[in-house]
Amino acid sequence: MVDILLEKDLKKLGTNLLCVYAFQKARKVEKLESLDKALQTRIGDRLKTFGFQGNAGESLVLEGNAKFKRIVAIGLGTKKDFDKRSMRQAFFNAVKQANALKVDSLTVLVPGTEKSVQEAVEGIRYATYQFAGRYRKQDKALTNTLKTVHLVSLESGDQASAKRADIVMDAVDFTRNLVNLPSNIVTPSYLENEARSLAEAEHSSLSVLSKEDAQRHKMGAFLAVAQGSREPAKMIVLSYSGAPKTKKTYAVVGKGITFDSGGVSLKPPKGMSKMKTDMAGGAAALGVFKAVSQLELKINLLAIVPATENMPGGNAYRPGDILTASNGKTIEVISTDAEGRLVLADALVYAQKLGADRIVDIATLTGAVITTFGSVHTALMANDDTWAGKYLKAARTSGEKTWQLPMDKEYDDLIKSNVCDMVNAVENRQAGTVTGGKFLERFIKKRTQWIHLDIAGTSYLAYPKGYLEKQATGIPVRTIVEMLKSEIR
Ligand code: BES
Ligand code: ZN
Ligand code: ZN
Repeated sequence: MVDILLEKDLKKLGTNLLCVYAFQKARKVEKLESLDKALQTRIGDRLKTFGFQGNAGESLVLEGNAKFKRIVAIGLGTKKDFDKRSMRQAFFNAVKQANALKVDSLTVLVPGTEKSVQEAVEGIRYATYQFAGRYRKQDKALTNTLKTVHLVSLESGDQASAKRADIVMDAVDFTRNLVNLPSNIVTPSYLENEARSLAEAEHSSLSVLSKEDAQRHKMGAFLAVAQGSREPAKMIVLSYSGAPKTKKTYAVVGKGITFDSGGVSLKPPKGMSKMKTDMAGGAAALGVFKAVSQLELKINLLAIVPATENMPGGNAYRPGDILTASNGKTIEVISTDAEGRLVLADALVYAQKLGADRIVDIATLTGAVITTFGSVHTALMANDDTWAGKYLKAARTSGEKTWQLPMDKEYDDLIKSNVCDMVNAVENRQAGTVTGGKFLERFIKKRTQWIHLDIAGTSYLAYPKGYLEKQATGIPVRTIVEMLKSEIR
């Protein structure tokens, strides 16, 4: 944990490290004139002497003065290319520098306007997230020494937006931890307990459907997936009413497969351990709920997580089985490994029964999305372009890249069944990601505004990418919170 403090007066501060930023080819470091004047330093001259260019990611450590033992200059690249993402990256780099230099306090001059405080906090928080070490001794060399960051905006700081960013990043870290933890720890019951803690927030409540409850609701698709596992399945429903006078209700519905073995359509051993992350959508839904309830946004929100393992136990469902979902539609099981859409089908129907009219579902649904986008873009599918547009706009703000896929009628032909209303998987693997979206669309009423996000490629990284460390990313919690925030304005 790092304390982030907003400061107005640089002159009153003294820390082990001072971080300043410079754009490429800019004649001066951001705010340097006032800085050099305030500190009676000549940082600008010295950076010139050492040939500091201001290239993106470039850094130069200088000896400091009595107040700041050392000074690090970090390049921001060209002004033209500078965006919110570079802002996060800049602060990420500053914190990484501080930890590499083993200092405990850092002062950073926030470049640009105070609007950057949000991205500053995000970058700092991304740099300090640590999961490894919880289950083994932390490597001394990697231990974070940084305890305090003083953010100096030479204009005025915005304490409130820093606080909000911190709340959202707590939720992102919460989501990342759930995704990084393995399946013997994060079971459906574990997710239920996490949800129970979240329900302690103001205006929040929890209801969890057991197997028997789900049977009463005729959730035949969800129950079929659950029947091959000994872990009790849970349909987790969190409710937050921040706008009790309106009926408008948002819902985030997240796939909560705590382990996906593939079931009888067993996955190959290579890479199967990664299937502990198949609840990343559910973890994100819980993360969004945590952020929204702690921010006390004036909206009504449901977070629904159909949580179960997908296992090949003796009672497991089989390829060829015919299932009836809670809206009466019938499904022919082609692959028991296409289980995400089955549990989501009943969860989406339930969300609408509870009054949700604007839904985002989040799922590690298809391997095909990794083939298409790698780990760069989340795939978005929607039944309503206005609602999709709001998400895409929020995604540009958050930097969590998202790309919309088509949902043309022709794709419906691919999920036709000879015996049922639809199949759960396309045998020849055509349009793998889109047909996942088309399947889910069958469980959405005409008047519901709905988005489906396939995060199989973006929720978990094999390699670090910018300010995202490898493993769980917490995507798309920040984007959804951003979108919900702009719904109120
Ligand atoms: N959980 C997987 C998708 C997945 C793959 C997530 C790789 C993360 C990394 C999902 O349940 C699945 O197995 N989907 C099948 C669908 C197919 C049978 C229609 C797939 O992608 O092969
Ligand atoms: Zn699967
Ligand atoms: Zn799965």
